[in-house]
Amino acid sequence: MVIGNVEGLFEARGIGKPVIHDLTLEGIPKDERALFWTSYVPTYHRTLGTTTTQDLWRRFQDVAVRSIPRVSDGQPSYALDMGCGDGRITEALLAGTKAHIVAVDGTRAFLDRAQERLSEHRDVRSRVALCQMDLTQDPWQLPGDSFSMATANFVIQYLSRGEQEYVINRAAQALNIGGELLLSTFTGVPFKKVVPFIMMGDAVRALRHPSRFKGIADTIRNIPVTKRFDQFAEAGLGHNSTLDELDMMHTKAGLTFEVVDEFKVWPKGTYGVITRGKKF
Ligand SMILES: C[S@@+](CC[C@H](N)C(=O)[O-])C[C@H]1O[C@@H](n2cnc3c(N)ncnc32)[C@H](O)[C@@H]1O
Repeated sequence: MVIGNVEGLFEARGIGKPVIHDLTLEGIPKDERALFWTSYVPTYHRTLGTTTTQDLWRRFQDVAVRSIPRVSDGQPSYALDMGCGDGRITEALLAGTKAHIVAVDGTRAFLDRAQERLSEHRDVRSRVALCQMDLTQDPWQLPGDSFSMATANFVIQYLSRGEQEYVINRAAQALNIGGELLLSTFTGVPFKKVVPFIMMGDAVRALRHPSRFKGIADTIRNIPVTKRFDQFAEAGLGHNSTLDELDMMHTKAGLTFEVVDEFKVWPKGTYGVITRGKKF
């Protein structure tokens, strides 16, 4: 699925042949994670309905919007939003910058939501292309390899360590020299401790002791996928990389690495981080 004519813009700039066309079936993740994500779509907006999650998303949006003028230096800029979900980061980039944006996600139902969200914006058709693509599958089919920025807000922790390395490497290849990769992810404790806390059976325990979980009890209550997540064995592939691992993956991909924001999240000992890699 492709919405918008960013490929036309790439063609106009003479940056290779536009290859995004119908990526639909080929691009769908084949494992159970696709089912998990599809089942998550109807309630995703509730997960992001708390002040805590809204704050996390706002932090990332701010960093991303502020980065665009820095990296584009007056030139037209192209941004790649990886795992765009229902389009919240894409929307901030659309509203807050002049960048053209290629937003990709593996889940068709999320892209439909993103399309709904973005359709109100005046120049969405000329500035945004929504594409269905599994970030972990080779080859990536993007309209060009000349992005000023690539973003993935709370996406990579759902991938295995090896898949994260692949995605960081591919993103680095898609960037211009000087282009930036902005990621947010969880770190500090293993992924398996975070996800059960939010989504799996342990969430039920959290509801029984709401005072221990303060503001997040509402988030948990609002995720009816709580039980179903257990059935998705593949979801257990997720991995919270340490900062050292992230640093190593960036370095291997030809990127510098810095942490631009770090905030305590749940459960105890877990941090959300926003990182920046710059292609040199
Ligand atoms: C927690 S959501 C974050 C969405 C969005 N970045 C945001 O800030 O709201 C994770 C997203 O990653 C997408 N995703 C997970 N694994 C993926 C993969 N292998 N390829 C493409 N998208 C993937 C999911 O479909 C989902 O939309």
